[in-house]
Amino acid sequence: MNLVFLGPPGVGKGTQARVLAGQFGLTAVATGDLIRAEVVAGTPLGCEAKKYIEAGNLVPDDVIIKMVEDLLARDNRQGFLLDGFPRTIAQAEGLERMLRGLGRQVSAAVCLVVAEEKVVQRLGNRRMCPICHRVYNLLHQAPLVSGRCDDHPDAELILRHDDDPATVRHRLQVYRNQTAPLIDYYRQRSLLKEVDGDGPVEDVTGRIVASLSR
Ligand code: AP5
Repeated sequence: MNLVFLGPPGVGKGTQARVLAGQFGLTAVATGDLIRAEVVAGTPLGCEAKKYIEAGNLVPDDVIIKMVEDLLARDNRQGFLLDGFPRTIAQAEGLERMLRGLGRQVSAAVCLVVAEEKVVQRLGNRRMCPICHRVYNLLHQAPLVSGRCDDHPDAELILRHDDDPATVRHRLQVYRNQTAPLIDYYRQRSLLKEVDGDGPVEDVTGRIVASLSR
């Protein structure tokens, strides 16, 4: 099973990707997490990507495609789950090309749907562990000890740079302009699964699993 996760910032792609990758034994590839790790490590790629990610813009297609290609070529699990890739038609075409070369194909593109005002509220209340990238929510998924990661109690949870309200509004605009066209791209290939992303995390997971078995 090779899955692609689509949907606007804050819709719950990362949260669901972590659950489903574990459940199905898939390699989870979160391009946002990969880029943030490069930024923290201060690699040339990270230094180049920093200005894009902090402004809420997309990192250039060729950089991202190369990064995913290297990872998928090494993947030897039962399949992959791509969270946040592809994000443009050029990336989707790049993915198709690289999978053809590996004798694989996308099994389904899951698009989570949540009202925009709710995703803005979720992002304002998101906190992240700087070590393991585990995501919390002050309203819905609070850590056991306020401000501390459950798995790394020494680590203080952080608010992502791009989660400030102005950058969130910009990221939503970038999503509408550059990523939303992928919904039709995958619908035309009969791969699209639109899933209601509202409600408790377990309910959303159940809806995704049900959509995949249809
Ligand atoms: P990325 O890190 O991928 O960010 P994103 O797509 O904007 O998505 P988010 O991580 O903000 O949200 P999510 O949908 O994963 O939601 P989450 O599960 O955290 O990308 C960041 C940047 O990297 C981009 O802007 C770009 O610069 C660059 N980039 C990455 N990929 C790229 C690519 N392919 N091409 C070019 N550039 C790229 O949940 C959000 C909050 O809601 C959390 O607090 C969570 O606890 C909570 N929550 C989750 N589910 C529920 C629920 N059911 N009910 C209530 N709360 C919930």
